[in-house]
Amino acid sequence: MTEVFTGFKPTLPSVLPSRIFSAPMAGYTDPPYRILMKEFKIPVLFTEMIDSHALVYRNEKTMKMLGRRDADLMTQIAAGTVALADKAVDVLLENETAGININMGCPAKKVVSCGGGSNLLRDPSIIKSIVQTVRKKTSLPFSVKFRSGWNQDLINYEEIGKIYEGEGVDFVILHARTRAEAFGGQAHWDHIERLKNILKIPVIGNGDIVSYESAKKMAEVTGCDGIAIGRGAIGNPWLYLQADAAIRGLPPLAEVSPQERLRVILRHYELILEYYGLYHSSHIFRKHLVGYMKSLPGHKAVKESLFSDEFLTYEKLQNILGTYFEKLESGSFYENPPIAAPLAANM
Ligand SMILES: Cc1cc2nc3c(=O)[nH]c(=O)nc-3n(C[C@H](O)[C@H](O)[C@H](O)COP(=O)(O)O)c2cc1C
Repeated sequence: MTEVFTGFKPTLPSVLPSRIFSAPMAGYTDPPYRILMKEFKIPVLFTEMIDSHALVYRNEKTMKMLGRRDADLMTQIAAGTVALADKAVDVLLENETAGININMGCPAKKVVSCGGGSNLLRDPSIIKSIVQTVRKKTSLPFSVKFRSGWNQDLINYEEIGKIYEGEGVDFVILHARTRAEAFGGQAHWDHIERLKNILKIPVIGNGDIVSYESAKKMAEVTGCDGIAIGRGAIGNPWLYLQADAAIRGLPPLAEVSPQERLRVILRHYELILEYYGLYHSSHIFRKHLVGYMKSLPGHKAVKESLFSDEFLTYEKLQNILGTYFEKLESGSFYENPPIAAPLAANM
């Protein structure tokens, strides 16, 4: 494939199947989502974060989260100690993971209080021991996802990035915020640029990609080797394709047609139903549907009618959304805009 865009200065693309991919998101990038993304030809490189304690105890639900073992699917674990990381990696190796990713960025209290996620950024010596231990155990692709630092007074991504590189990590993903910043404000893309300049291993930039333009800008500003997209792609998997076009120097893609949106929503729900069963599916699907519908007129009323029963069947979703998108496309939706509750009846 010809790369015409000059923003990227890739170093070792051989360990990366793509330059645009989905950032791990607990509760979102689950096995059904990963199958959907495969159909989009977007690699989801990572599982959702897996708790190492649960993994070591081979908790049934946790083992299920590992999902289908794909050739390019790395498992992301959170572990706060060397001993736990060591045991968790043993379990992963028994389960044929394609690679290992360690989460050193999660800000959640329940992860931090066990010493894992972003808490590790407070102690580079533990980071070094964990990374050394994991690297010794396996030659599989090994990456780390981390943040810029703990807080404004401890911004140490440069020091930590060098530890990763020195200990043989294959590539890193930097979510350019501190733990204290959580998901607020703007990601510090200058941190991604700086890291790219000081490391030889590939640096994947992460934070605030929401459009063709922002993907293009991140690539230009930082020179990163790849881009991981999280929240912006919830209910908008087409964003990955836009970002891919942006970094290849191609023009933006056309807006998603109502039929295509409907097709993808239905397919996503089908996969969720297959995986979780009817009882759990509507709850799990709701947050995705919010993303799929948020830019559309009358979306609140549509959601209300979809979730009016305890369970959402595939047929109900198909009927209500089929009529909605048909009306949207023909323009008749705008002639008779729905008033919240009666929408389902109108359709
Ligand atoms: C709901 C949610 C769940 C997340 N779960 C994970 C996770 O399991 N592992 C991880 O490394 N990062 C996780 N993240 C962080 C994202 O991967 C990403 O770093 C962050 O959202 C910034 O990227 P964005 O601006 O593209 O969303 C999560 C983020 C959100 C919003």
